[in-house]
Amino acid sequence: MKIACIGTGFVGVVTSAVFASFGHEVIGLDIDQDKIDALSAGEVPFFEPGLKELLDETLESQRLSFTTSYQEAIESAEVIMVMVGTPSAADGQADLKYVIKSSEMLAPNLDDGAIVVIKSTVPPGTNLKIREVISSKTEVNFTVASVPEFLKEGSAVKDTLHPARVLIGANDKATIEKLTLLHQPLTDNILVMKPESAQMAKYASNTYLATRITFINQIADLCQKNGADIEEVISGMGQDPRIGQHYWYPGFGYGGSCFPKDVSELAAYSRAVGEANNLMNKVHELNQERVPRLLAQFGNKIGGWGGKKVAVLGLSFKPNTDDTRQAPSLQIIPQLIEAGAEVRSYDPRASLPKLEEKTDQYQQLTSIEAATKKADIIMAVVEWPQITSFDYSQIKDPDLDQVFIDGRNQFSAEQIEKWGFKYLGIGRT
Ligand code: UDX
Repeated sequence: MKIACIGTGFVGVVTSAVFASFGHEVIGLDIDQDKIDALSAGEVPFFEPGLKELLDETLESQRLSFTTSYQEAIESAEVIMVMVGTPSAADGQADLKYVIKSSEMLAPNLDDGAIVVIKSTVPPGTNLKIREVISSKTEVNFTVASVPEFLKEGSAVKDTLHPARVLIGANDKATIEKLTLLHQPLTDNILVMKPESAQMAKYASNTYLATRITFINQIADLCQKNGADIEEVISGMGQDPRIGQHYWYPGFGYGGSCFPKDVSELAAYSRAVGEANNLMNKVHELNQERVPRLLAQFGNKIGGWGGKKVAVLGLSFKPNTDDTRQAPSLQIIPQLIEAGAEVRSYDPRASLPKLEEKTDQYQQLTSIEAATKKADIIMAVVEWPQITSFDYSQIKDPDLDQVFIDGRNQFSAEQIEKWGFKYLGIGRT
């Protein structure tokens, strides 16, 4: 089957390579010529485990190619997947300008019977708008379906090859059959539903997970007040099969390109449809307050940040990615600098070059040893294996009373204290 993938961002590149690996002829399209040249040469513009290998394999087999030409990509394609960005607009809702623009561009090149699949995260009801836009520019028969993307950065290839579920939001029988066939090699767990339901399920899934994280962060704060240990609380709660232990380790708040955006977009969507008093507003607000709140908590325990040398370990928004979008480090480091600290950082992949240019109170180093040298405070922010499995006894400075802040509750307090550090975790006293 010929598949056109519009938008070669994170989701677009992974999806193109995965479908090509199943023997389809896939053409990835982007308006950015430099991106297309790089991808055609097998260069992935970001770090994602397993993607480079898959891209090389599918490019070499000539099942995958990239272009900037709508005509080349869309002509004779049976399925066109739209995976362009949907930045947040001024009112907080998803800005559909790129989705609309690509719909206008693809329309004149559509073949009769083509299926336009919207994978970008868009508000329920968007398919009708897209239908109108395309209809105004073509006479051919086509359908619009919604198949939202649930991949996680850092395990995107695995998640796309083995999704927990595929939601096919479509009303037309032939469209449902073709999209089911296309996704069958990936999973048996294919759910067919209305496009509006698929779009709502995408927003609701991310918002639920973000709410779960925010909830446990709140409980961790309460543990600070009463001497309970959040890890014990989580294990106690997790015994209830309705709750479970998974996916709610506390920390500096959620980041990345999806959760912050999807939660605030769902909040804005709710306001726009007359539900101003919604939970999502609060979740977003609490997550925004997370970094200043924790820095104040820790600051009180260490006698203030002024004049302290702080080693921040982990800059990406989570492990196994170089993505720093909405990463807690983007707030942590400037706030520490503002409070008078001198910050050195380490990350296995990510960097914050703009911040480094701005101030001489901040420097990124290439090893944990270098970043923690003479540090008063060592703050582990991201659970990269390189950070969590490091032997910190090697870098303990006997001349300093060093504090170890475990921003992800990944370490044993006992072990860290045995090595001579004072241990501070999240929701642990
Ligand atoms: C998320 C969704 O998981 C995915 O299904 C969706 O399609 C895109 O958004 P991603 O942003 O890649 O994926 O990362 P994820 O692993 O879900 O983590 C999101 C954020 O929550 C990270 O900042 C992470 O550190 C944080 N998090 C996650 C917590 O703070 N605690 C947790 O228990 C889990």
